[in-house]
Amino acid sequence: MEEQKWTEDNLKTPYFIIDETELAKNIRQLKAALTKYWDNAIIGYSFKTNSLPWLLHYFKDEGFFAEVVSDDEYELAKAIGFEKDKMIYNGVAKSKETFEEALQNNCVVNIDSHRELDWLKELNAGSTKVYEVGIRVNFDLEKHCPNETVMGNEGSRFGFCYENGELLKAVKRIVSLPNVRLTGLHLHNSTKTRSLNIYSTIAKMACEIKKTYALDLKYIDIGGGFFGGLINKPQFDDYLKCISTELSKEFKKEETTLIVEPGISLVASPIRYVSSVIDVNETNRNYFIITDGSNININPLQNKQMKFYHIKYQCSSQQKVIDKQVVSGFTCMEEDWLMILEYSPKLSVGDQIIYEKIGAYSLSLSPLFIKYFPAVYAKREGIITKVSEKWTAQQMIQSDGLHDKGII
Ligand SMILES: Cc1ncc(COP(=O)(O)O)c(C=O)c1O
Repeated sequence: MEEQKWTEDNLKTPYFIIDETELAKNIRQLKAALTKYWDNAIIGYSFKTNSLPWLLHYFKDEGFFAEVVSDDEYELAKAIGFEKDKMIYNGVAKSKETFEEALQNNCVVNIDSHRELDWLKELNAGSTKVYEVGIRVNFDLEKHCPNETVMGNEGSRFGFCYENGELLKAVKRIVSLPNVRLTGLHLHNSTKTRSLNIYSTIAKMACEIKKTYALDLKYIDIGGGFFGGLINKPQFDDYLKCISTELSKEFKKEETTLIVEPGISLVASPIRYVSSVIDVNETNRNYFIITDGSNININPLQNKQMKFYHIKYQCSSQQKVIDKQVVSGFTCMEEDWLMILEYSPKLSVGDQIIYEKIGAYSLSLSPLFIKYFPAVYAKREGIITKVSEKWTAQQMIQSDGLHDKGII
Protein backbone atom coordinates (compact mmCIF):
# COMPACT_ATOMS: atom_id res chain seq x y z
CA MET A 1 0.00 0.00 0.00
CA GLU A 2 0.83 3.68 -0.24
CA GLU A 3 3.91 4.70 1.77
CA GLN A 4 4.81 8.30 2.49
CA LYS A 5 6.81 10.32 4.99
CA TRP A 6 3.99 10.59 7.48
CA THR A 7 4.34 11.55 11.08
CA GLU A 8 1.64 11.36 13.70
CA ASP A 9 1.59 15.17 13.66
CA ASN A 10 0.84 15.66 9.99
CA LEU A 11 -1.85 13.01 9.50
CA LYS A 12 -5.34 14.32 8.97
CA THR A 13 -7.56 13.49 11.93
CA PRO A 14 -9.56 11.52 12.83
CA TYR A 15 -7.69 8.28 12.20
CA PHE A 16 -6.81 4.97 13.79
CA ILE A 17 -3.18 3.92 14.07
CA ILE A 18 -1.90 0.42 14.82
CA ASP A 19 1.33 -0.02 16.75
CA GLU A 20 2.76 -3.13 15.09
CA THR A 21 5.35 -3.67 17.81
CA GLU A 22 2.63 -3.94 20.45
CA LEU A 23 0.53 -6.20 18.23
CA ALA A 24 3.50 -8.50 17.65
CA LYS A 25 4.22 -8.55 21.39
CA ASN A 26 0.66 -9.64 22.23
CA ILE A 27 0.84 -12.42 19.65
CA ARG A 28 4.26 -13.54 20.91
CA GLN A 29 3.03 -13.71 24.50
CA LEU A 30 -0.04 -15.75 23.56
CA LYS A 31 2.00 -18.19 21.49
CA ALA A 32 4.59 -18.53 24.28
CA ALA A 33 1.90 -19.33 26.86
CA LEU A 34 0.35 -21.96 24.60
CA THR A 35 3.73 -23.53 23.88
CA LYS A 36 4.44 -23.67 27.61
CA TYR A 37 1.12 -25.07 28.84
CA TRP A 38 -0.69 -26.74 25.92
CA ASP A 39 1.38 -26.89 22.78
CA ASN A 40 -1.26 -28.81 20.85
CA ALA A 41 -3.24 -25.65 20.16
CA ILE A 42 -5.01 -23.62 17.50
CA ILE A 43 -5.49 -19.87 17.68
CA GLY A 44 -8.56 -18.59 15.86
CA TYR A 45 -8.64 -14.81 15.53
CA SER A 46 -12.12 -13.46 16.27
CA PHE A 47 -13.00 -11.56 13.09
CA LYS A 48 -15.85 -9.64 14.73
CA THR A 49 -13.52 -7.91 17.18
CA ASN A 50 -11.86 -5.95 14.38
CA SER A 51 -12.21 -7.15 10.79
CA LEU A 52 -9.85 -4.65 9.17
CA PRO A 53 -8.43 -6.61 6.20
CA TRP A 54 -4.86 -5.59 7.05
CA LEU A 55 -5.24 -7.19 10.49
CA LEU A 56 -6.82 -10.32 9.02
CA HIS A 57 -3.85 -10.74 6.67
CA TYR A 58 -1.52 -10.21 9.60
CA PHE A 59 -3.13 -12.98 11.64
CA LYS A 60 -3.26 -15.31 8.63
CA ASP A 61 0.46 -14.81 8.13
CA GLU A 62 0.97 -15.65 11.81
CA GLY A 63 -0.62 -19.05 11.17
CA PHE A 64 -3.91 -18.27 12.90
CA PHE A 65 -7.26 -19.75 11.93
CA ALA A 66 -10.17 -17.43 11.11
CA GLU A 67 -12.86 -17.50 13.81
CA VAL A 68 -16.02 -16.44 11.99
CA VAL A 69 -19.64 -16.18 13.10
CA SER A 70 -21.65 -15.49 9.96
CA ASP A 71 -21.74 -16.40 6.29
CA ASP A 72 -20.39 -12.92 5.50
CA GLU A 73 -17.41 -13.36 7.81
CA TYR A 74 -16.87 -16.83 6.37
CA GLU A 75 -16.73 -15.36 2.84
CA LEU A 76 -14.42 -12.61 4.08
CA ALA A 77 -12.01 -15.21 5.46
CA LYS A 78 -11.96 -16.91 2.05
CA ALA A 79 -11.44 -13.59 0.28
CA ILE A 80 -8.50 -12.79 2.57
CA GLY A 81 -7.00 -16.13 1.60
CA PHE A 82 -7.35 -18.26 4.72
CA GLU A 83 -6.91 -21.87 3.70
CA LYS A 84 -10.22 -23.62 3.32
CA ASP A 85 -9.78 -25.80 6.40
CA LYS A 86 -8.27 -23.06 8.61
CA MET A 87 -11.56 -21.69 9.80
CA ILE A 88 -13.56 -22.04 12.97
CA TYR A 89 -17.19 -21.54 12.12
CA ASN A 90 -19.30 -20.49 15.12
CA GLY A 91 -22.48 -18.61 15.87
CA VAL A 92 -26.12 -18.61 14.90
CA ALA A 93 -25.73 -16.65 11.64
CA LYS A 94 -24.34 -19.42 9.42
CA SER A 95 -26.05 -19.99 6.08
CA LYS A 96 -26.89 -23.55 5.05
CA GLU A 97 -24.57 -23.33 2.03
CA THR A 98 -21.54 -22.11 3.96
CA PHE A 99 -22.27 -24.55 6.81
CA GLU A 100 -22.16 -27.45 4.37
CA GLU A 101 -19.12 -26.12 2.56
CA ALA A 102 -17.22 -25.65 5.83
CA LEU A 103 -17.98 -29.24 6.82
CA GLN A 104 -16.95 -30.58 3.40
CA ASN A 105 -13.68 -28.64 3.78
CA ASN A 106 -13.03 -30.03 7.28
CA CYS A 107 -13.25 -26.68 9.06
CA VAL A 108 -13.92 -26.61 12.78
CA VAL A 109 -17.70 -26.17 12.87
CA ASN A 110 -19.41 -25.63 16.20
CA ILE A 111 -23.17 -26.25 16.13
CA ASP A 112 -25.06 -23.45 17.84
CA SER A 113 -28.69 -23.87 16.79
CA HIS A 114 -31.43 -26.42 16.12
CA ARG A 115 -31.55 -25.60 12.43
CA GLU A 116 -27.93 -26.67 12.12
CA LEU A 117 -28.88 -30.03 13.62
CA ASP A 118 -31.49 -30.35 10.88
CA TRP A 119 -28.94 -29.41 8.20
CA LEU A 120 -26.57 -32.00 9.63
CA LYS A 121 -29.26 -34.66 9.38
CA GLU A 122 -29.85 -33.81 5.72
CA LEU A 123 -26.14 -33.81 5.00
CA ASN A 124 -25.70 -37.17 6.69
CA ALA A 125 -28.49 -38.70 4.64
CA GLY A 126 -27.00 -37.75 1.32
CA SER A 127 -23.35 -38.56 1.85
CA THR A 128 -20.77 -41.20 2.56
CA LYS A 129 -18.23 -38.71 3.95
CA VAL A 130 -17.82 -38.64 7.72
CA TYR A 131 -18.36 -35.15 9.12
CA GLU A 132 -16.86 -33.92 12.37
CA VAL A 133 -18.61 -31.26 14.40
CA GLY A 134 -18.37 -29.55 17.75
CA ILE A 135 -21.23 -28.24 19.85
CA ARG A 136 -21.62 -24.96 21.71
CA VAL A 137 -22.27 -25.57 25.38
CA ASN A 138 -24.57 -23.30 27.35
CA PHE A 139 -24.02 -23.75 31.07
CA ASP A 140 -24.81 -21.66 34.11
CA LEU A 141 -21.51 -19.83 34.44
CA GLU A 142 -23.19 -17.12 36.53
CA LYS A 143 -24.05 -19.73 39.19
CA HIS A 144 -20.40 -20.77 39.42
CA CYS A 145 -18.98 -17.23 39.17
CA PRO A 146 -21.57 -14.83 40.63
CA ASN A 147 -21.64 -11.29 39.17
CA GLU A 148 -18.99 -12.10 36.62
CA THR A 149 -20.94 -12.79 33.43
CA VAL A 150 -22.25 -10.15 31.04
CA MET A 151 -25.86 -11.37 31.20
CA GLY A 152 -25.92 -12.09 34.95
CA ASN A 153 -29.07 -13.87 36.10
CA GLU A 154 -30.60 -13.75 32.61
CA GLY A 155 -27.99 -16.23 31.37
CA SER A 156 -26.46 -16.71 27.95
CA ARG A 157 -28.64 -17.21 24.87
CA PHE A 158 -26.01 -19.22 22.98
CA GLY A 159 -25.52 -22.95 22.75
CA PHE A 160 -27.40 -25.90 24.18
CA CYS A 161 -28.16 -25.84 27.89
CA TYR A 162 -26.37 -28.43 30.01
CA GLU A 163 -28.45 -28.07 33.15
CA ASN A 164 -31.91 -28.60 31.59
CA GLY A 165 -30.93 -31.51 29.34
CA GLU A 166 -31.03 -29.65 25.99
CA LEU A 167 -27.33 -30.34 25.50
CA LEU A 168 -27.81 -34.05 26.06
CA LYS A 169 -30.69 -34.10 23.56
CA ALA A 170 -28.54 -32.34 20.94
CA VAL A 171 -25.60 -34.67 21.62
CA LYS A 172 -27.88 -37.68 21.18
CA ARG A 173 -29.18 -36.28 17.89
CA ILE A 174 -25.62 -35.83 16.61
CA VAL A 175 -24.30 -39.23 17.67
CA SER A 176 -27.34 -40.96 16.18
CA LEU A 177 -26.20 -39.87 12.70
CA PRO A 178 -23.97 -42.59 11.22
CA ASN A 179 -21.85 -40.20 9.16
CA VAL A 180 -21.33 -37.58 11.85
CA ARG A 181 -18.87 -37.55 14.77
CA LEU A 182 -19.06 -35.21 17.74
CA THR A 183 -15.44 -34.22 18.24
CA GLY A 184 -15.44 -30.91 20.09
CA LEU A 185 -16.98 -28.70 22.75
CA HIS A 186 -17.20 -24.94 22.32
CA LEU A 187 -17.45 -23.03 25.58
CA HIS A 188 -16.98 -19.34 24.79
CA ASN A 189 -18.65 -17.05 27.34
CA SER A 190 -18.85 -13.28 27.59
CA THR A 191 -17.87 -11.99 31.00
CA LYS A 192 -17.40 -8.64 32.71
CA THR A 193 -14.40 -9.71 34.75
CA ARG A 194 -12.32 -11.82 32.29
CA SER A 195 -11.00 -13.44 35.49
CA LEU A 196 -8.88 -16.54 35.90
CA ASN A 197 -11.75 -18.02 37.88
CA ILE A 198 -13.88 -17.91 34.70
CA TYR A 199 -11.38 -19.96 32.70
CA SER A 200 -10.84 -22.53 35.48
CA THR A 201 -14.61 -22.93 35.66
CA ILE A 202 -14.99 -23.32 31.89
CA ALA A 203 -12.19 -25.88 31.79
CA LYS A 204 -13.75 -27.80 34.69
CA MET A 205 -17.06 -27.82 32.84
CA ALA A 206 -15.37 -29.25 29.73
CA CYS A 207 -14.02 -32.09 31.90
CA GLU A 208 -17.40 -32.68 33.56
CA ILE A 209 -19.28 -32.88 30.25
CA LYS A 210 -16.72 -35.16 28.68
CA LYS A 211 -16.94 -37.50 31.69
CA THR A 212 -20.72 -37.39 32.13
CA TYR A 213 -21.48 -38.10 28.48
CA ALA A 214 -18.44 -40.35 27.91
CA LEU A 215 -17.36 -38.29 24.89
CA ASP A 216 -14.30 -38.95 22.81
CA LEU A 217 -13.19 -35.43 21.92
CA LYS A 218 -10.51 -34.10 19.60
CA TYR A 219 -10.72 -30.50 20.77
CA ILE A 220 -11.86 -28.16 23.49
CA ASP A 221 -12.60 -24.65 22.28
CA ILE A 222 -12.34 -22.40 25.32
CA GLY A 223 -13.32 -19.27 23.33
CA GLY A 224 -11.95 -15.76 23.72
CA GLY A 225 -12.57 -12.98 26.20
CA PHE A 226 -9.09 -12.71 27.74
CA PHE A 227 -7.38 -9.55 28.88
CA GLY A 228 -4.27 -8.60 26.92
CA GLY A 229 -1.77 -5.76 26.84
CA LEU A 230 -2.64 -4.52 30.35
CA ILE A 231 0.02 -4.83 33.02
CA ASN A 232 -2.24 -4.96 36.07
CA LYS A 233 -4.53 -7.68 34.67
CA PRO A 234 -4.10 -11.45 34.13
CA GLN A 235 -1.60 -12.31 31.40
CA PHE A 236 -1.86 -15.07 28.76
CA ASP A 237 0.56 -17.09 30.88
CA ASP A 238 -1.81 -16.93 33.87
CA TYR A 239 -4.84 -17.92 31.78
CA LEU A 240 -3.13 -20.85 30.09
CA LYS A 241 -1.75 -22.12 33.37
CA CYS A 242 -5.26 -22.21 34.89
CA ILE A 243 -6.83 -23.79 31.83
CA SER A 244 -4.14 -26.43 31.51
CA THR A 245 -4.27 -27.32 35.23
CA GLU A 246 -7.98 -28.12 34.96
CA LEU A 247 -8.07 -29.63 31.47
CA SER A 248 -5.23 -32.04 32.17
CA LYS A 249 -7.38 -33.75 34.80
CA GLU A 250 -9.49 -35.25 32.00
CA PHE A 251 -7.65 -34.64 28.71
CA LYS A 252 -4.22 -35.50 27.33
CA LYS A 253 -2.34 -32.75 25.50
CA GLU A 254 -1.22 -35.14 22.78
CA GLU A 255 -4.78 -36.21 22.03
CA THR A 256 -6.85 -33.07 22.55
CA THR A 257 -6.30 -29.78 20.78
CA LEU A 258 -6.98 -26.62 22.74
CA ILE A 259 -8.62 -23.92 20.65
CA VAL A 260 -8.54 -20.29 21.78
CA GLU A 261 -10.43 -17.49 20.04
CA PRO A 262 -8.84 -14.22 21.15
CA GLY A 263 -10.00 -10.85 19.89
CA ILE A 264 -9.81 -7.96 22.31
CA SER A 265 -6.70 -9.31 24.05
CA LEU A 266 -4.72 -9.00 20.81
CA VAL A 267 -6.11 -5.95 19.05
CA ALA A 268 -7.30 -3.53 21.74
CA SER A 269 -3.96 -2.39 23.14
CA PRO A 270 -2.06 -1.76 19.87
CA ILE A 271 -4.61 0.64 18.36
CA ARG A 272 -5.07 4.36 19.04
CA TYR A 273 -7.64 6.83 17.70
CA VAL A 274 -6.45 10.36 17.11
CA SER A 275 -8.89 13.28 17.03
CA SER A 276 -8.56 17.07 17.03
CA VAL A 277 -10.46 19.87 18.68
CA ILE A 278 -12.33 21.74 15.93
CA ASP A 279 -14.34 24.17 18.05
CA VAL A 280 -15.17 25.22 21.57
CA ASN A 281 -18.74 26.08 22.50
CA GLU A 282 -19.37 27.73 25.84
CA THR A 283 -22.99 27.71 27.03
CA ASN A 284 -24.60 28.73 30.31
CA ARG A 285 -24.51 25.09 31.37
CA ASN A 286 -21.33 23.62 29.93
CA TYR A 287 -18.01 24.12 28.26
CA PHE A 288 -18.21 21.90 25.18
CA ILE A 289 -15.12 20.81 23.30
CA ILE A 290 -16.19 19.85 19.77
CA THR A 291 -13.87 17.34 18.13
CA ASP A 292 -13.61 15.63 14.76
CA GLY A 293 -13.70 12.26 16.55
CA SER A 294 -16.88 10.55 17.71
CA ASN A 295 -18.26 7.85 19.93
CA ILE A 296 -19.59 6.23 16.75
CA ASN A 297 -16.00 5.28 15.86
CA ILE A 298 -14.66 4.20 19.23
CA ASN A 299 -17.59 3.60 21.54
CA PRO A 300 -20.58 2.92 19.31
CA LEU A 301 -22.49 1.01 21.98
CA GLN A 302 -21.74 3.82 24.46
CA ASN A 303 -20.80 1.24 27.08
CA LYS A 304 -17.12 2.10 27.63
CA GLN A 305 -15.40 4.66 29.78
CA MET A 306 -12.44 6.31 28.15
CA LYS A 307 -9.76 5.25 30.62
CA PHE A 308 -6.72 5.48 28.36
CA TYR A 309 -6.01 8.72 26.58
CA HIS A 310 -3.55 11.56 26.38
CA ILE A 311 -3.79 15.09 25.10
CA LYS A 312 -1.33 16.97 22.90
CA TYR A 313 -1.71 20.67 23.54
CA GLN A 314 -0.56 22.87 20.66
CA CYS A 315 0.41 25.73 22.91
CA SER A 316 3.39 24.84 25.05
CA SER A 317 2.70 27.48 27.74
CA GLN A 318 0.62 26.36 30.70
CA GLN A 319 -3.14 26.55 30.03
CA LYS A 320 -5.64 27.69 32.60
CA VAL A 321 -7.17 24.70 34.41
CA ILE A 322 -10.95 24.52 34.26
CA ASP A 323 -13.21 22.32 36.31
CA LYS A 324 -15.32 20.69 33.59
CA GLN A 325 -14.92 20.25 29.84
CA VAL A 326 -17.29 18.03 27.87
CA VAL A 327 -15.37 16.39 25.03
CA SER A 328 -17.92 15.72 22.32
CA GLY A 329 -18.06 14.32 18.81
CA PHE A 330 -18.80 15.38 15.25
CA THR A 331 -22.26 13.84 14.99
CA CYS A 332 -25.53 15.67 15.49
CA MET A 333 -26.45 13.40 18.38
CA GLU A 334 -26.63 15.32 21.66
CA GLU A 335 -25.39 12.21 23.48
CA ASP A 336 -22.15 12.06 21.49
CA TRP A 337 -20.04 12.88 24.54
CA LEU A 338 -16.72 11.02 24.54
CA MET A 339 -15.69 12.01 28.05
CA ILE A 340 -15.79 14.70 30.68
CA LEU A 341 -12.46 16.21 31.66
CA GLU A 342 -12.34 17.49 35.20
CA TYR A 343 -9.78 19.98 36.50
CA SER A 344 -7.61 19.85 33.42
CA PRO A 345 -5.94 22.46 31.22
CA LYS A 346 -8.29 24.24 28.88
CA LEU A 347 -8.43 22.74 25.38
CA SER A 348 -8.32 24.91 22.26
CA VAL A 349 -8.84 24.39 18.54
CA GLY A 350 -6.02 22.28 17.10
CA ASP A 351 -5.22 20.33 20.29
CA GLN A 352 -5.28 16.58 19.81
CA ILE A 353 -7.00 13.98 21.97
CA ILE A 354 -5.56 10.51 21.51
CA TYR A 355 -7.60 7.58 22.78
CA GLU A 356 -5.48 4.50 23.47
CA LYS A 357 -6.16 0.75 23.59
CA ILE A 358 -9.22 1.26 21.45
CA GLY A 359 -8.84 -1.41 18.73
CA ALA A 360 -11.59 -3.81 19.82
CA TYR A 361 -15.29 -3.48 18.94
CA SER A 362 -14.69 0.06 17.68
CA LEU A 363 -14.17 0.09 13.92
CA SER A 364 -16.07 -3.18 13.47
CA LEU A 365 -19.15 -1.71 15.15
CA SER A 366 -18.91 1.76 13.58
CA PRO A 367 -21.93 2.80 11.58
CA LEU A 368 -21.75 4.79 8.36
CA PHE A 369 -23.33 7.78 10.05
CA ILE A 370 -22.68 11.38 9.03
CA LYS A 371 -18.99 10.74 8.40
CA TYR A 372 -17.73 7.53 6.89
CA PHE A 373 -15.03 5.15 8.13
CA PRO A 374 -11.81 6.98 9.01
CA ALA A 375 -8.39 6.11 7.59
CA VAL A 376 -6.26 3.54 9.37
CA TYR A 377 -2.46 3.58 9.55
CA ALA A 378 0.09 1.13 10.88
CA LYS A 379 3.38 2.13 12.48
CA ARG A 380 6.40 -0.13 12.41
CA GLU A 381 9.87 0.91 13.52
CA GLY A 382 8.85 4.56 13.22
CA ILE A 383 7.52 4.20 9.68
CA ILE A 384 3.86 4.90 9.08
CA THR A 385 1.91 3.15 6.31
CA LYS A 386 -1.71 3.71 5.32
CA VAL A 387 -3.52 0.38 5.63
CA SER A 388 -7.07 1.53 4.96
CA GLU A 389 -8.29 4.59 3.07
CA LYS A 390 -10.87 6.87 4.59
CA TRP A 391 -14.25 5.97 3.11
CA THR A 392 -15.84 8.66 0.96
CA ALA A 393 -19.07 9.09 -0.98
CA GLN A 394 -17.51 6.81 -3.62
CA GLN A 395 -17.53 3.80 -1.30
CA MET A 396 -21.07 4.66 -0.24
CA ILE A 397 -22.37 4.34 -3.79
CA GLN A 398 -20.05 1.56 -4.96
CA SER A 399 -22.59 -1.25 -4.76
CA ASP A 400 -25.90 0.49 -5.36
CA GLY A 401 -26.11 -1.14 -8.79
CA LEU A 402 -27.76 1.94 -10.23
CA HIS A 403 -24.75 3.00 -12.30
CA ASP A 404 -24.33 -0.47 -13.82
CA LYS A 405 -27.98 -0.63 -14.80
CA GLY A 406 -27.76 2.81 -16.38
CA ILE A 407 -30.38 4.16 -13.98
CA ILE A 408 -28.10 7.12 -13.22
C1 LIG B 1 -17.65 -17.13 19.96
C2 LIG B 1 -16.71 -16.02 20.28
N1 LIG B 1 -15.39 -16.24 20.24
C3 LIG B 1 -14.50 -15.26 20.50
C4 LIG B 1 -14.92 -13.98 20.84
C5 LIG B 1 -13.88 -12.93 21.09
O1 LIG B 1 -13.97 -12.36 22.34
P1 LIG B 1 -12.94 -11.22 22.78
O2 LIG B 1 -12.90 -10.20 21.70
O3 LIG B 1 -13.55 -10.69 24.05
O4 LIG B 1 -11.62 -11.89 22.99
C6 LIG B 1 -16.30 -13.71 20.91
C7 LIG B 1 -16.79 -12.38 21.26
O5 LIG B 1 -17.92 -12.13 21.59
C8 LIG B 1 -17.22 -14.75 20.61
O6 LIG B 1 -18.54 -14.53 20.62
